[in-house]
Amino acid sequence: MLKKKIETILNEQVAKEAYASQLYLAMASWAETQGYEGISNWFYAQAEEERMHMMKFFRFINERGGHAIVPKIDMPPKTYKGVNEIFKAALEHEQMVTASIDKIVDLAVAEKDHATNNWVQWFVTEQVEEETSVQNILDKLRLLGDKNIYLFDRDIMNMRGE
Ligand code: FEO
Repeated sequence: MLKKKIETILNEQVAKEAYASQLYLAMASWAETQGYEGISNWFYAQAEEERMHMMKFFRFINERGGHAIVPKIDMPPKTYKGVNEIFKAALEHEQMVTASIDKIVDLAVAEKDHATNNWVQWFVTEQVEEETSVQNILDKLRLLGDKNIYLFDRDIMNMRGE
């Protein structure tokens, strides 16, 4: 049975993962309207992954005897300044999510909730991968420069490592 404090922080994470999914969907849509097919596909796939993250938290809360809550989600920005900016914003967002996963670990440890602590370690690893993946994209963008966005757009889906 989840303690109330743990249930609350897990439900807050449901809302954050749901927002991440909507944010990446908005980024995918913007990229598509700009003609960046590869970048938009990357963000569409990312939006699906965030939805999967949200569902993992959602199901875990109910499995552990809590009550998973469907959150109200803020509207993400519609437009972005450019390709670099969109990935910088994605990295900042992932760093924020990492900090919030770390808080769940801290609380689980403080509350001696070993089951939650053990379960949430999957996300600790996932966040390292997600931050690295976006950082690699930013590094590649820097190497290619603004004039080679076409090549970048063509190759980005190969960088998903799937
Ligand atoms: Fe669900 Fe990208 O963190």
